[in-house]
Amino acid sequence: MKISVIGCGYLGAVHAASMAKLGHDVVGVDVDADKVASLSAGQAPFFEPDLPELLLEAGDSLRFTTEMADLNTATVHFVAVGTPQQQGSNAADLRFVDAAIESLLEHLKPGDLVVGKSTVPVGTAARLAERVETTGARLAWNPEFLREGFAIKDTLTPDRLVYGVRPGGDSDAVATLDEIYATAIAANTPRIVTDYATAELVKVSANAFLATKISFINAMSEIAEVTGADVTQLADAIGLDDRIGRKFLNAGLGFGGGCLPKDIRGFMARAEELGVDQALSFLSEVDAINLRRRSRMVDLTREVVGGDLEGKRIAVLGLAFKPDSDDVRDSPALDVATRLVAEGAIVTATDPQAIETARRRNPELTYVATAAEAARDADAVVLLTEWRDYKTLDPAELAESVNVRAIVDGRNCLNPVAWREAGWLYRALGRPQHAPVAVS
Ligand code: UDX
Repeated sequence: MKISVIGCGYLGAVHAASMAKLGHDVVGVDVDADKVASLSAGQAPFFEPDLPELLLEAGDSLRFTTEMADLNTATVHFVAVGTPQQQGSNAADLRFVDAAIESLLEHLKPGDLVVGKSTVPVGTAARLAERVETTGARLAWNPEFLREGFAIKDTLTPDRLVYGVRPGGDSDAVATLDEIYATAIAANTPRIVTDYATAELVKVSANAFLATKISFINAMSEIAEVTGADVTQLADAIGLDDRIGRKFLNAGLGFGGGCLPKDIRGFMARAEELGVDQALSFLSEVDAINLRRRSRMVDLTREVVGGDLEGKRIAVLGLAFKPDSDDVRDSPALDVATRLVAEGAIVTATDPQAIETARRRNPELTYVATAAEAARDADAVVLLTEWRDYKTLDPAELAESVNVRAIVDGRNCLNPVAWREAGWLYRALGRPQHAPVAVS
């Protein structure tokens, strides 16, 4: 099929490349000429496993442009622009979605299908449908559920497809989307055809649930910290109940990134507009628990260095909001790093992929390429993103770099026994404090 993708950021670039991989003829449109140039040269403007290969492999079936007019042979138009949090408010900023639809209108032909993929407040699709239908085109809402680091896999082999269509149903839209996703449909991927509001809500409620699950276990961490319990064993034990499940019960520094934080806030703001704010008031607690973990991490680091961070050398391992990503948007790791600096610590930070993105936001931090360099003469090492490189660090080897063998595991991803046996003071969020003597 001939497809256009409006917005070639994280979601759009991955979607465009994946659609080409599925055999469609794709044109990606973005207002950012640098991004278009980079994608046209086969270079992903951000780190995402497998994306560079897909861009190169696509050949003529994938083009990128800044000109809306270049999409006029396409009959299906995906809208994949960002919906960031508004400055000074919890609500989602819909400027980019509105602008994308408005600039698309003059290029739409009767019978075209516009497919919304951006995460939007419930009610947006119904409003945009009125605009789209003035051209004889139709609108469907087809939320994405991709995780950074697995974005290509999640797009090519999704665990479900959700199509929100206009009131009264839209068999043409369903048939078109089925043709686009023929590979997934042939693999028996569950597909739910519903109305606009439900499709919009599926996305934000899924993210609200995931955020709640993480904050639940982090709330248990707070209890564990004052009772001497171990939150990781607690998560293993409750996770064995398959009604609960172990996934998304990793206690630690909490969630960040371009989706969960802004989506729960946008959801609360929309509920307030709808007069049902009480229904989501628990999400403000979810947000607060999440943010408290960052403060606790700073407190624990201060405690480990003897009560005052001023002048202490701290090695920060990890800046990305999660491993396998260079994304530092609302990153708990970067937030903790800057808070340590604010308390006078001399921070040396590293990350396998996110140094450049972090440097753009926080040029004042000192960045180095490796964990060993970051740890040189450190009074404490803090692990903030659970990259494989850090999970497999050898405590004896790292001990050679540091001034004091003290590590704070912000992601509960190291083996405390191995680190303590190698002479380290090991502290973590939600885990008991054993062997409190730091070895110089
Ligand atoms: C999320 C959703 O998973 C995805 O379905 C949606 O489309 C977009 O938002 P993503 O932001 O890529 O995806 O990250 P995800 O893997 O969900 O992790 C989010 C955050 O939660 C990360 O900061 C991660 O470190 C944290 N997390 C995750 C935990 O703290 N504990 C866990 O058990 C799992």
